[in-house]
Amino acid sequence: MQNNLAELLNRNLNIGQKTIANRLVMAPMSYLGHVAFRELLAHFGGYGLLFTEMCSAKRIPTENPQTSAFFRWRETELPRLVCQIVGNDPDKMVVAAKRIQAEGFFGVDINFGCATGTICSHSGGAAVLKNPALAHQIVASVREAVTLPLFVKFRTGWQDDPQHAAMLAQRFETAGADALTFHPRVAPDRRLRPAKWPYIKMVKEAVNIPVFGNGDVFTGDDCLRMLQTTGCDGVAIGRLGIAQPWVFAAWTGGLTVKPELYRDTALYLVKLLERYFDETQALRRFQRFAYYFSANFRYGHTLFTRIRAAADLQRVIGVIERFFQTPPELSSRPNMNFFI
Ligand SMILES: Cc1cc2nc3c(=O)[nH]c(=O)nc-3n(C[C@H](O)[C@H](O)[C@H](O)COP(=O)(O)O)c2cc1C
Repeated sequence: MQNNLAELLNRNLNIGQKTIANRLVMAPMSYLGHVAFRELLAHFGGYGLLFTEMCSAKRIPTENPQTSAFFRWRETELPRLVCQIVGNDPDKMVVAAKRIQAEGFFGVDINFGCATGTICSHSGGAAVLKNPALAHQIVASVREAVTLPLFVKFRTGWQDDPQHAAMLAQRFETAGADALTFHPRVAPDRRLRPAKWPYIKMVKEAVNIPVFGNGDVFTGDDCLRMLQTTGCDGVAIGRLGIAQPWVFAAWTGGLTVKPELYRDTALYLVKLLERYFDETQALRRFQRFAYYFSANFRYGHTLFTRIRAAADLQRVIGVIERFFQTPPELSSRPNMNFFI
């Protein structure tokens, strides 16, 4: 399976005027896909692209990349980094996209997928899908303003209707999107039911631009099945990429996962977080990471509970070192909903 998967993933893909070297990308993850975590991902490599966590379009014009918690990057990552923006005002989205282009990012991604209460209550993210004409206008306005690759990430919508999702995909393509990331879930669904992969096939068949399938890829077999059964052009990985930041290198580059990798990776992330964030921000971000990382282990809830209770990063390091004194039993398939 592994060779077959690597062969499928390690193929160039044209997106707008640019090309990526492989088809496995890290999905945008708020409070998780920050500059420190992306440095960890870069340490392993193996991905075609990384996406930033969502950035409020309204805030981008005034953010200082030296100090911003979310609009911050390393120069070396820009050639493979897409900045995701969220908002519902076409003019503000345009201003944000222009800055993203001027800063030298690979591309800009419009978030029509986020279904959390805070984002939707401000009528951003998936809430925009309730108004397809507005969604179209946002994509078209950004397209007119910038030449860099333009991505749209979206969900099935607010009704469980794949035809509607295919219609949305066509509208985004007509409006000028260069690639789509599609997560086949309705907006109120909080990932408790499986993603409906057959809908990815329908979206893929509805358009001529590349489609990245997304949702519930937790093993190499899942990834292969998604590619083969949906015909999608690439795969965007969310939670597994957080739990196993080396997964890109493992699936596209043949990295062998040694048992000590788990402990070493967690400790390395602590160091990176300390470099970019103050103690409180770093601790909060590590605790979010720990939720997904702990899902790698059969008894990971004990690790997560201890990390969540830790008052500072020094104590977090102690928890990690104690947990790995006896090699922990791995789950065959990380259970990402283990606390729900
Ligand atoms: C904690 C968390 C944060 C997320 N943040 C974002 C985000 O900032 N932008 C976005 O478009 N999607 C976001 N998502 C959705 C993911 O990108 C992805 O679509 C979803 O997790 C399904 O993929 P997976 O099954 O591989 O995790 C987030 C998901 C989670 C669990």
